[in-house]
Amino acid sequence: MNDRFLRACRREPVDRTPLWIMRQAGRYLPEYREVRRRHDFLTVCRTPELAAEVTLQPLRRFKMDAAILFSDIMVPLDAFGIPMTFEPGPKIADPIRTRAQVDRLEARPAAEAVPFVADAIRLLRRELDGRTPLIGFCGAPFTIAAYLVQGEGKEGFSAIKRLMYREPATLEALLEKLYVAMADYLRLQIDAGVQAVQIFDSWAGILDEAGYRRFALPGVKHLVDTVRERGVPSIYFLNGAPHLIQAGAGVEPDVLGVCWRESLQQVGARIPQQIALQGNLDPHVLFAGPEVIRDRATAILRSVADRPGHIMNLGHGILPDTPIASVEALIDAVHAFDPAAVAEAPCTT
Ligand code: CP3
Repeated sequence: MNDRFLRACRREPVDRTPLWIMRQAGRYLPEYREVRRRHDFLTVCRTPELAAEVTLQPLRRFKMDAAILFSDIMVPLDAFGIPMTFEPGPKIADPIRTRAQVDRLEARPAAEAVPFVADAIRLLRRELDGRTPLIGFCGAPFTIAAYLVQGEGKEGFSAIKRLMYREPATLEALLEKLYVAMADYLRLQIDAGVQAVQIFDSWAGILDEAGYRRFALPGVKHLVDTVRERGVPSIYFLNGAPHLIQAGAGVEPDVLGVCWRESLQQVGARIPQQIALQGNLDPHVLFAGPEVIRDRATAILRSVADRPGHIMNLGHGILPDTPIASVEALIDAVHAFDPAAVAEAPCTT
């Protein structure tokens, strides 16, 4: 069993730094595009055999230290019966902006609404057979709400901020319904067999610290506590939010996933030692040549070599047109890195 990812989550010693890549199953892989030629995105998410197949694609090609279930942060909203399409990002025909709409939202149990997720997880655990750990995930309530209120992905997500200032109690009521449903959804995934959980907070960074503490953090805290009760490690990924790192670390996830904007060393100095770090190569570095990729990846590995608990990853999802050879160069750099050499040859770059 390759358990270096789970060991790093718990800050235990590892033979080398584990690596997985956010959005590792996706459009940069020709075999994924082939599946998508035959099936639309939601069909892939909702069909256990297809979701499992796509989850395994990057593992067949690359030596990844974890698999992540193929799905989307918007999929569990099936529990509320909210109609949605992907073009390619989520589109909600009837954005949620009023108290009456929020009050009408009622979640069915995840086991009833999205049983295909549990089925995909069970299939994957059988196929992986202990070789590679499986990560489950959900969106953080504020990030999901940003799409529900806006109706689509949009720079700045102005609609949710307007709602926040105009009708804070309406937003709080929406967020509460979302975090209750996401906790149920995470329990479904853990009971079906995921061995760690990542909570994606892609858009919390549009808030100031006071707004983040009031609106975004309570839901994340509830989810981290839910995951801890079930005994698997949690990763809290906070994108585009260097100003919120310390507040975010306050929910005490096992691992804090860090975007590419700030160095891991700077982040590490500001959060408690008992939280491991994940990240944080800028996904655009993968458009450089192999030497640049190796140098930038090695600099990250070196910068946290003396801090127990580091999982190598990008600082956000891999971009759809990333060359396969760049992923290989990144993996080679992680495999070649020798922390022992750091002590002898301090970083000069
Ligand atoms: O990491 C993985 O390999 C697992 C699969 C995964 C997807 N979405 C598949 C997907 C995960 C973990 C997500 C999370 C997700 N979805 C987030 C959080 C992470 C982040 O990127 O910030 C967000 C914000 C979404 C919402 C979403 N779904 C967007 C914005 C888009 C379109 C644009 C984009 O970035 O691709 C999607 C669609 C989507 N989700 C695709 C994939 C592979 C592309 C759909 C297609 O095949 O046409």
